[in-house]
Amino acid sequence: NRLLLLNGPNINLLGKREKEVYGEFTLQTVEHELSALVQEYGGELDSFQSNHEGELIDCLHRANGKYDGILFNPAAYTHTSVALRDAIAAIDTPVIEVHISNVHQRETFRHQSMLAAVCYGQIVGFGKNSYRLAALAFLENK
Ligand code: DQA
Repeated sequence: NRLLLLNGPNINLLGKREKEVYGEFTLQTVEHELSALVQEYGGELDSFQSNHEGELIDCLHRANGKYDGILFNPAAYTHTSVALRDAIAAIDTPVIEVHISNVHQRETFRHQSMLAAVCYGQIVGFGKNSYRLAALAFLENK
């Protein structure tokens, strides 16, 4: 299993930004823990984060066919980006949409996802375990 962890805008600030919403852990911690989990299953994890919509789109294009699955926290672009939706729809590699916070308990503009309908699945609201659960969905999918 080759998995890609992809994170969108402001996720580089985990551990500093809105800790009451997103917790104290950093993106580096997520990367380390997830990489260890994937390795336990004999797989490999790559990671990419960008604050730029176009870079995320380029990354999805490059990832096509190279990975068995993509764990994607599109952050605020979840709620706005038709371009990311089209990119996910354009590739064959399945994408799981991941959110740290429970977006449905938050502002109404976060209740809508432009991306969920073209994703393989969605995991929302379990803190850094959201990433683990998404990885397990690929790793334990026999
Ligand atoms: C988020 C939820 C989004 O609404 C927000 O814009 C983020 C993070 C999450 O992981 O909970 O930046 O994707």
